[in-house]
Amino acid sequence: MTTAPQGSTVPPIIGHRGAGCHAPENTLASIRRAAVLGVRWVELDARLSRDFEVILLHDDTVDRTSDGSGLVAEKDWAELQALDAGTWYGEAFSSERIPSLRQAITVLAELGLGANVEIKPCVGREDATGRIVARLLNEKWPAASPIPLISSFNLETLKAARDVAPYIPRALAVSTIPEDWREQLVELGSNALHCDHKHIYVGQVREVLDAKCALRCFTVNEADRARTLYDWGVEAVFTDYPERMPMR
Ligand code: G3P
Ligand code: MG
Repeated sequence: MTTAPQGSTVPPIIGHRGAGCHAPENTLASIRRAAVLGVRWVELDARLSRDFEVILLHDDTVDRTSDGSGLVAEKDWAELQALDAGTWYGEAFSSERIPSLRQAITVLAELGLGANVEIKPCVGREDATGRIVARLLNEKWPAASPIPLISSFNLETLKAARDVAPYIPRALAVSTIPEDWREQLVELGSNALHCDHKHIYVGQVREVLDAKCALRCFTVNEADRARTLYDWGVEAVFTDYPERMPMR
């Protein structure tokens, strides 16, 4: 991927962690399920194994979403791959493994899906995680697929990703929109915020849109709420239930 982006191609509905309530989140099954549900883009959580493989997992530990226990950052890719990442969700998914981002990219390309890769660094590897994920996207993301979108709650991680792949769009993820959101976006060279819909109000949305920034909200699982957000001008919602979202 060597060309500059031609602008946002982010659709109004983004599958959260794949299709996070239809299959074990952040697995290849979840990505495939999102495609079946008609989603064009998915959001995936990316982090580093101890030996610097980029893997998909939301939490710092493997406890909740696998049959293992302990910190991801203290396990090598080979150990992580051996875990059952599906049975916690349902017996039918017992063959699911924690995927690498490389594996996910292959499946996304097969399905023609775009992706928001949310980078979740562990403490102490904020810069490295941003660089390694950006480098991987730079090298492996297929030119024929919609250009991906990087996001993170961590500013240092996003800056590191920007330094490696300045042409991949970036969004700052926040729980509540901070007072200095403009300054942070300028520093980052970004024009997009991802925020928790529970903590925004219409005045803030107007401020962000007036500044020509995109606002996307997580995690929106009710159609009425999505309608309200779209009416306010929110560009996209991350949802565990794409099939519930209103048609746009
Ligand atoms: O990237 C949007 C959303 O996924 C952020 O929150 O905790 O679900 O990763 P979380
Ligand atoms: Mg996420």
